[in-house]
Amino acid sequence: MCGIIGILGEEPAAPLLIEGLKRLEYRGYDSAGVATVVNGAIDRRRAEGRIARLEARLAEAPLPGTIGIGHTRWATHGKPNETNAHPHATERVAIVHNGIIENFRSLRQELEALGHRFSTETDSEVIAHLITRYLDEQQSPRQAAASALARLDGAFALAIIFAGEHDLMIGARRGSPLAVGYGRGEMFIGSDAMALAPWTDRICYLEEGDRVEVTRAGATVFDGEGHPAEREIRQTVQSGALIGKAGYRHFMLKEIYEQPSVIGDTLRSYVNPVTRAIWLPAMPLSLAEVGRITAVACGTAYYAAMVAKYWFERLARIPVDVDVASEFRYREAPLPEGGVALFISQSGETADTLAAMRYAKEQGQTTIAVVNVPESSIAREADVVLPTLAGPEIGVASTKAYTTQLTVLACLAIATARLRGTIDQRRQAELITALTEVPARAVEVLTHDDVIHRLAHDVAEARDVLYLGRGANFPTAMEGALKLKEISYIHAEGYAAGEMKHGPIALIDETVPVIVIAPSDGVVFDKTVSNVQEVMARGGKVIFLSDRDGIEAFGPGASATIALPKVDPLVAPILYAIPVQILAYHTAIFKGTDVDQPRNLAKSVTVE
Ligand code: M6R
Repeated sequence: MCGIIGILGEEPAAPLLIEGLKRLEYRGYDSAGVATVVNGAIDRRRAEGRIARLEARLAEAPLPGTIGIGHTRWATHGKPNETNAHPHATERVAIVHNGIIENFRSLRQELEALGHRFSTETDSEVIAHLITRYLDEQQSPRQAAASALARLDGAFALAIIFAGEHDLMIGARRGSPLAVGYGRGEMFIGSDAMALAPWTDRICYLEEGDRVEVTRAGATVFDGEGHPAEREIRQTVQSGALIGKAGYRHFMLKEIYEQPSVIGDTLRSYVNPVTRAIWLPAMPLSLAEVGRITAVACGTAYYAAMVAKYWFERLARIPVDVDVASEFRYREAPLPEGGVALFISQSGETADTLAAMRYAKEQGQTTIAVVNVPESSIAREADVVLPTLAGPEIGVASTKAYTTQLTVLACLAIATARLRGTIDQRRQAELITALTEVPARAVEVLTHDDVIHRLAHDVAEARDVLYLGRGANFPTAMEGALKLKEISYIHAEGYAAGEMKHGPIALIDETVPVIVIAPSDGVVFDKTVSNVQEVMARGGKVIFLSDRDGIEAFGPGASATIALPKVDPLVAPILYAIPVQILAYHTAIFKGTDVDQPRNLAKSVTVE
């Protein structure tokens, strides 16, 4: 992960670097630092923790210099302390790095044998020393950077500055994204266009293996073979305005409450209001003829893929294989000729998902990406992009990205089913009606916030929490458990309700809250009720989420019930995600954790 930024400007770089880093804090927030060239020498300031601490350090000890690099870290190698914070520097060079250098141990040994002294536990420091070694051998800064880059194994996005060089910055990418921004007499490097948006909307995305030499006059890109390369400069749609909390206490809460409107925005771009048919972009294959779909993602997006499996199999009668990207990419899965591979990602930068997509492409699959960031690597490389219109999601816990992913996947499943003739016009109309009612139903769901807030008080006391669901709401149970774990640090598990008696029921006693997601949707509901009775018989404290019919059919015995709107089973996973988000949020508040930036996590996971 980590966010990097570089600025060659006319005014002091450090305050601008801080501004850019704040926009990259979603990539990691363990420590931060900046380095500039001042009177020909490299100087730097670093701090453990959030960027605010670095800002305070700079207020005490300002850093002049109009060329500089900055970094916000998500620790991979070495503790998240000031010593290990980037930029890493020698007297001759300073670097910021996003990624992992896999051969750092052997390089470090080699450099130590040459007399280099290392001061951190990181893999990244080796890059600064390696460049220094080549500078010491009288190579020019440009040559030394190229020589060092050729020796690195692993993934990196890098920005490099040199002592004595007030008008040169070198950037490079392999595996991790890097953008170059073009200003007027100023140039920028950044992990993404959003970091650079306050200063420029003219962005060039480096391609795999590229190296770029940047001066205030412009940038020269070289490809992986070292040949000069043309890279398109595009107009970015990212806004330079800082995204605020709009009066909410946390971004996560704001994003939970935005769901009715962003689901509506997403639906408006896929559903024709007149014909009530689904609109999809042109595809290089016919969905009617697809024999199998492979769906791949990580974390919350993986649960969206799991829900989609139920939808595609039930509605369109297409078998779907679902995998977490980190497993899929090394599994060497045989993929069917003419198959479709679906990738789901909020950030569009998740390293495992991106690598899985590249594998699927190599295997001749048509790749479809459901993605929230339109200029992301996954969006740029996919054959077909189905955007979610969630808007920027800042809270580390994914909320509105998930429900808009589900919205897009539901549209895709319905359209595919209709093309294949597995649903008729009437059923399509019913499903689309149910979908278009989701924003209004989501508003109703949000009115339960107070009740859920009260329940969260008890959940916050628990050591373990179980979430149960069946069918398309089994993934909702897993998503509920993930939300609780990541922001409240309470151990939670999501289970298929029918699996309880195969082991997890042994955990049940009166201290374990059991959150049951059970819309009244026929056979699966009845089975869930039986499973929950088994839990209650063993003293489990059940919080039962259903609709009025379901709660009535369930009868007494639950510690609490929440009556959600009665909806078509298709859309239940979208709506039932909301109360589990709210429960996780309030529980985390009771626990006093950092809701938007929970420990050890980052919003965009660009390392594998
Ligand atoms: O950006 P992506 O959707 O590819 O991210 C995938 C996961 O890292 C992400 O969903 C993560 O699990 C969230 N923190 C969950 O809330």
